[in-house]
Amino acid sequence: MEEETKSAPINSVMETSAFDPKARDNPHPILKDVQSQCPVYRDEDGKIWLLSKYENVREIVNDRSLWRHPANAEEGSFMRLFATSGDQNTDERVADRPSILFMDDPDHSRVRPPIAKALYARINKKKGEIEHIVNQVIDAAPSSGIFNIIDDICIPIPILVIARLIGVEESRVAEFREWSEASILSLAAIRTPEQEERMKWGSDKLAEYFHALIAERRTAPADDLISDLVQAQQEGLDLTDDEIEVNLIGLLIGGNLTTTDLIGNGTWLFLTHPDQKAVLMKDASLAPAAVEEVLRYESPVGITTRVMSEERAVGGCPMKPHEGMMMSLHAANRDPDVFDNPDQFDITRKHTSHVAFGGGAHICIGAPLARIEAQQAFVKIFERYPTLRLANRAVKWRDLPFFRGLEELWVEG
Ligand code: HEM
Repeated sequence: MEEETKSAPINSVMETSAFDPKARDNPHPILKDVQSQCPVYRDEDGKIWLLSKYENVREIVNDRSLWRHPANAEEGSFMRLFATSGDQNTDERVADRPSILFMDDPDHSRVRPPIAKALYARINKKKGEIEHIVNQVIDAAPSSGIFNIIDDICIPIPILVIARLIGVEESRVAEFREWSEASILSLAAIRTPEQEERMKWGSDKLAEYFHALIAERRTAPADDLISDLVQAQQEGLDLTDDEIEVNLIGLLIGGNLTTTDLIGNGTWLFLTHPDQKAVLMKDASLAPAAVEEVLRYESPVGITTRVMSEERAVGGCPMKPHEGMMMSLHAANRDPDVFDNPDQFDITRKHTSHVAFGGGAHICIGAPLARIEAQQAFVKIFERYPTLRLANRAVKWRDLPFFRGLEELWVEG
């Protein structure tokens, strides 16, 4: 009898992303197949590897010798598409002005630590205010009836919080949200001409706004992160004006969509798992564990990437320098070799060491902030709406590839 040859369950990495309608509704079944049948998958057309086992994902995200900037990836590869967008309009400017997200050493080691230090000092100083903003938004949402909780609670919380920390005008948060959503299309890799236009518009608006605001804070400092960084620079910190600007924009964008998705995905999970909601409502001290389980089970960010810098094998497959690697955080977070009953949403589970925030030198800088906001949000939402339930309408997942979040979650308060 002829031996059956195993073929991959997908023809392109895009089939695992929200670009594909089936994966948009639920990416986990196809990722499970990829993980079990082809854990180190090569997309020849996209010239990219897809790693889906926890062990390989951890190994690669933690490896500080690999590149992050997509311009290091081979010519014609899927990853190169990320390099042709970013915060600015032209390839050269992106290469010249990456935020820490796409920066490599030695610059990353110079730029990230002082920004992280300033951000964490701000978060510590303003923790009470952050929780107060979360409570205020939830108190201002409709007291009863049917409403889309994404619009009324999940979107306003992160944008108001990050606006307060950074020091941008809170009266303009609707505009910031629009600019951020347009600008984050840079991470979509494949865009329609309309999306391309929108992305450029959003990036320009943000750059213009921050440029003026930074100049203003130089002459009139305020109690905010912009002033902290400008002041540190005046006292000798080795950061250029461009680096301050591009990274403040990065924080504004990074802090928005992802945290909205964390709060939205979690609310949906609790409403579809009433037993888990009851556990949390009975004991609010479980909020930190609940947030970790939401992050593991429905990670808002589906992938992260690195570029191979030397010849070596990963998961037994030989790889060459400049080959791009995409790590499925969704698949790794449900790896049955690491998590017991990985498809069970259980806020009391013991092993919670997920990779939803990536890892190594590039691990999400905003993780502590996202955690504070989500912990407070889950407790407060179910305190204010103890009988909250899903309204009789379909949920709608967003179609931004490799992100996972709800556009519409209609609930009845
Ligand atoms: C639930 C919410 C969030 C999730 C799931 C998330 C996820 C991620 C992931 C997966 C990475 C890439 C890590 C890697 O490649 O190893 C990342 C990086 C980053 N995130 Fe987040 N993030 C969240 C919230 C935030 C917030 C609130 C901010 C800003 C305040 C932020 C700013 C950034 C920045 C600037 C980077 C680049 C860090 C670097 O490369 O050094 N994120 N995030």
